[in-house]
Amino acid sequence: MENIDWKQFGFGYTKTDYNVRCHFRDGKWGQLEISSSDQVNVHIAATGLHYGQQAFEGLKAFKGPDGKVRVFRMDENAKRMQSSSHGIMMAEMPIDLFEEAVIKTIKLNERWIPPYESGASLYIRPVLFGNGAQVGVNPAPEYTFAIFVMPVGPYFKEGFKPTDYVIYREYDRAAPQGTGTIKVGGNYASSLRGGTRAHKEGFSAVLFLDAKEKKYIDECGPANFFGIKDNTYVTPKSNSILPSITNKSLCQIAEDMGMTVDRRKVTVEELADFTEAGACGTAAVISPIRKIVDADNNVDYFYGDEAGKTSLKLYETLRGIQYGTVEDKHNWNTIIEF
Ligand code: PLP
Ligand code: COI
Repeated sequence: MENIDWKQFGFGYTKTDYNVRCHFRDGKWGQLEISSSDQVNVHIAATGLHYGQQAFEGLKAFKGPDGKVRVFRMDENAKRMQSSSHGIMMAEMPIDLFEEAVIKTIKLNERWIPPYESGASLYIRPVLFGNGAQVGVNPAPEYTFAIFVMPVGPYFKEGFKPTDYVIYREYDRAAPQGTGTIKVGGNYASSLRGGTRAHKEGFSAVLFLDAKEKKYIDECGPANFFGIKDNTYVTPKSNSILPSITNKSLCQIAEDMGMTVDRRKVTVEELADFTEAGACGTAAVISPIRKIVDADNNVDYFYGDEAGKTSLKLYETLRGIQYGTVEDKHNWNTIIEF
């Protein structure tokens, strides 16, 4: 775009030209509607406001050196939004309607897609919430879906430079049989106290433990956790973490690289056995971990001031697939035709 400093973007909100909305009323989804306003109409008695009946998604589009624009695994985000909707009894949006909304919003904001050289990407944020009057605790009669895009740089300002994470046992983000596996706003509200304290104390995020026993690793604030040891990619299995699409992709890439993938419960003590560790997610991509401080026990697990070679290789392969410089052998990308 004209005179835009693409390097300036972190993860703050940037108003782009258009967004798209869709309403579910009388038992059916309506047409996609285009808007240039960044305000939405919410009923004063909407369940999205009162009872947390709300879910969101996050995905990215990338412009490659070949000039093509690729969206990464949007079918997975569509399915996860259905699963979130199912979990809190919202209307489920059909996969093809979700994908149509993603593509339409990207196309309407073509001039906001960062050029390849900038290293930035276009973040796509769909949100769905209960709207319409409902004061008793029941699912809403109507739903509003909205989707916007914005150019983004790194989520953690250090980018691929390793940063520090912290364990505090006094905060949980989700209950053992609760909403941890779906992408609902309440999980993020629950993470704010711990997360804000972590930032104040110089950490990138909280490494949450399982809420029941506080024995096992759950996830890293807004990202999943992985550790590397002996050519094995280890990542927690838990019923209170978000099934990360990035993590699922990294498991596949690790396998393709000849590594063993081990998805299982990971104890806190086992943090000492990893040679590398990282946080992974759409926003975080791979954010290597420098050290994890167990603040309650005064123990540190240190992985290094520089990213390890396996994390680097995983990062480069994932980015390469997303920008179209590494073969997309699992057909993860959708190329947007302008
Ligand atoms: N865990 C949480 C709590 C998240 O918010 C996210 C971000 O979406 C992730 C993990 C990573 O998931 P994904 O790779 O699908 O973006
Ligand atoms: C993402 O990675 O897309 C996220 O949702 C993380 C965060 C900004 C909530």
